[in-house]
Amino acid sequence: MDTERYVTQSPEETEQIGRRFAATLKPGDVVALRGDLGAGKTAFVRGVASLLTPGAEVQSPTFSLLRIYEGPLPLYHFDLYRTRDPEEVYEIGLDDCLDRGGAALIEWSERAEGALPHGTITVTLENPSHDDRRQITVRRGAPC
Ligand SMILES: Nc1ncnc2c1ncn2[C@@H]1O[C@H](COP(=O)(O)OP(=O)(O)OP(=O)(O)O)[C@@H](O)[C@H]1O
Ligand SMILES: [Mg+2]
Repeated sequence: MDTERYVTQSPEETEQIGRRFAATLKPGDVVALRGDLGAGKTAFVRGVASLLTPGAEVQSPTFSLLRIYEGPLPLYHFDLYRTRDPEEVYEIGLDDCLDRGGAALIEWSERAEGALPHGTITVTLENPSHDDRRQITVRRGAPC
């Protein structure tokens, strides 16, 4: 397993880490974003989109479950906050999205525990000091 750790001090720095991470994404990748409300998951996705789907307006898709950003590598931005059934991630169309050659970024991926494919990349955002500091851990190759 390959683990990277970062500490950021502002939303802009978290976006920057997301942007750098975006350069490593490939078609079919699934990224599970973990972390509490306000941890910075959407800020991270905003950074990813700034590289791959420039011009996309990234918001927490809380009321829509899925937002699609078109670009050289299309992004499927899921938010499973309101999901009760882990299988819902398939019903929403994760497989279809991946078949179309994009990458999926899944907020509240904890809700789909066990339903994500092998090889899912995990990005954990933590706010241990309850200020603007965020700890970001990227794990690749972890079994899901
Ligand atoms: N270092 C930081 N990185 C990211 N966000 C930060 C940081 N410091 C402060 N913030 C603030 O924390 C909040 C992060 O919000 P964001 O919507 O990205 O969180 P989220 O994890 O997606 O939450 P939700 O579960 O509600 O979707 C924003 O208000 C942002 O301004
Ligand atoms: Mg969010």
